[in-house]
Parts: sequence; C-alpha cells; structure tokens
Amino acid sequence: MSIMKTVVLAYSGGLDTSVCIPLLKERYDYDKVITVVADVGQPQSEIDDATRRAETLADAHYTLDLKDEFVRDYLFPSIKANGLYEGYVLGTALARPLIAKKIAEVAENENADALAHGCTGKGNDQLRFEVIFRATDFDVVAPMRDLNLSREWEIDYARDHNIPVTVSREKIWSVDENLWSRSIEGGKLEDPYSIPPEEIYEWTASPEAEDVPASEIVELAFEGGVPVALNGSAMDGVALIRKLNTIGGAHGIGRSDKIEDRVLGLKAREIYEHPAATILLTAHQDLESLVLTRDELRFKAVVDATWAELAYKGLVDEPLYADLCAFVDETQKRVTGDVKVRLYAGSATVVARRSDFALYSEELVSFGESVIDQRDSEGFSKYHGFQARLVRR
Ligand code: ARG
Repeated sequence: MSIMKTVVLAYSGGLDTSVCIPLLKERYDYDKVITVVADVGQPQSEIDDATRRAETLADAHYTLDLKDEFVRDYLFPSIKANGLYEGYVLGTALARPLIAKKIAEVAENENADALAHGCTGKGNDQLRFEVIFRATDFDVVAPMRDLNLSREWEIDYARDHNIPVTVSREKIWSVDENLWSRSIEGGKLEDPYSIPPEEIYEWTASPEAEDVPASEIVELAFEGGVPVALNGSAMDGVALIRKLNTIGGAHGIGRSDKIEDRVLGLKAREIYEHPAATILLTAHQDLESLVLTRDELRFKAVVDATWAELAYKGLVDEPLYADLCAFVDETQKRVTGDVKVRLYAGSATVVARRSDFALYSEELVSFGESVIDQRDSEGFSKYHGFQARLVRR
C-alpha cells in the first residue's frame, strides 16, 4: 500500500473542474492529482487550453483522443437506435460513460486510490459518471457536490490559487460539447420564457438570417445502419460527422430548445445544437422505413425509446442495454442504401432514397396486372373491420 494518496480527476478546463484540483489536496488530503482531458470532439482550441491549464495545475496529466472510439461505440449505436430522448438528440449522455471508463483505466495504470468528477448534485452527469466509477474498487469523490460552492467563491478561490479565470462573475451559460452535440444551459436561459439570444449559438447560423444559403442536397450512403459516405466520397465517422456539422450548421439546421426531464425528476430548460445528428438521424430513419417491415418498425420504435432512456441515464452496463443493442444490430443488417437530404433554412428534408433491400416496389404500387390481381382483394375487403360490424349488430 502506498502512503501517497492519488486521485484521478475528469478535467474539462472549466472553472469547476479547475478549482477541484487544489480542493482535492486541501479538503480531501490527496497528495497527487492526475487530470484527464477526454477529447470527444470538442473544438481543438478547448482541448489545447484545457491541456495547457492542466499541465500547470495538476501533478500529472493525460489528454486522451477518444473520438474514434466515441463514434464507433456510442454514436453509431445511437444512429442505429434513432437515439432521441424526449424528442431531442442525445449528446452529453453518450460521451459520459466513455469518459468515465477511461478515467478508471488511467487510475488502474497509475495505481491511484480514487476517482473524481466535477459535477454538481443537480444534474444527470454525476449519475452517469458514478454508475461507472462505483463499479470499480476506487473511492469516488465529487467536490462540487460535497462543498456546494457559489460561483463567486470559486472565482475568488481560483484567483488565490493562480488559476486563470476566463468567466465573468455574472453567471453566463454552461456549455458541454462533443462531436455530436453542443448543449447550453444555465444563467439567464434558466427562465423558460426567455428567448435565447443569438449569441449562445456557435455551431449553427440563424435559420432566419437574410442571407441564408441557397438550398443544397447532400447524399448519404449507409451500410448496416451507419453512414459510410457523403456526396459520393467514403469517409470515416469522425470526418463525416465533422463535415456534416459544418454544412448543416451553415443552413441553421439542428437547433433545439427543450424542457427536459432530468433523471432525478427536475425539469430543466436545455438548448442544443446538433446539425450532423439531425441530418443523419432523419436520413437513417427514412431508410429504415424503406427496408424494414411494418412489424419491425413498430416494435423497433419501442426498443429505440427504451434504448434511449438507458443511454440518457448512462446505464450502458445494464444488461438490457446490450440486449437491445443486439436486437437493433440485427435489424440494421438491411439498413444499407442511399438517401438524399435537402438542407434549407433550418430544415433537413429527405427528398430521395434507394436500397437493394427496399421492400418498396414500383411494380406492386402501380398494380401491374401480372403481379397483383385486384379481384383477389375483394375477400379481404369483405372482412376488413369485421368485428366493429359485429358490435353494431
Ligand atoms: N441536460 C443535458 C443532459 O443531461 C446536458 C447537460 C450538459 N451540461 C451542460 N453544462 N450544458 O444530457
């Protein structure tokens, strides 16, 4: 057993997790604080700032590039399951389990004693981190939740500890970003009757701007339920999502303003930007409607909703999550084909789709005599709604 006590902290570079570093030593008696910045596709400048900051504040630091893993293990499954929670695109929730697992891995390698996060006691993220953390033997520390600090106190404490403070005293909004989604909450946005100011948006142009770009059609190729090419060029997931965020963002696509039910039951006003997600989920769902049977579609909608609820709660180690993923994967074997989406002034509309697995047949719909003999339908028509007739009799 070492006498030195070591803690590994999930670090973002923001005020909360920055003040956690000295707090973990002063209030919790850790001798060594190791920080981990998880790159799940936030802007590079943010990763660089956080890394630089961590290198001056912490005893040791890791910046982990998790983008490919994030896409493969979390975003692609979410596309396959049409991942929406209460109608909005899942984002923050998808990245947390991966970050938490990586923190635990670093702790294992560093022979640490504890895992720490900077989440407060009000939100979902504490649950998503801790459900993973508590499956290990490490101690779990949550200074922000324990100490209930005010922003003013944190700013003063940061100044005293040579932590550069870039936020203002009047609380502005809090942002969480990954490759899939940018979430903005808090500050004056907490009044659900306040109209969000244009300045909160960074990924999307205003769909109402006078100079909205002319409409544009993007062509997406899917294989086994996941996107593999954009406008005819094969691309890996990270590049494809980045590119679609840029294209869709210019058209003002993918803004949502939601009253969201948090896991603890609190309702919160949340604003999101997710251009690529909106385009991909719209296209994916349309392709499913072309290739899956009516029964599959109806049942899959139930599976998708349950999948999304588990994902929202961060319960990716719940056995049901794997069970549902297995069902979804089975259905996706035929979700291969091309979809054209028109982008214009904030909307993404599917305008064309095709697949070798299409259950749609022009021949059948246009009733070529040789395929469908319309007289065969007479018997079916006689008994359609039969039970209702029995009730009335
Ligand atoms: N409400 C969202 C969720 O629980 C996003 C929270 C992200 N945090 C933030 N500071 N915007 O998934």
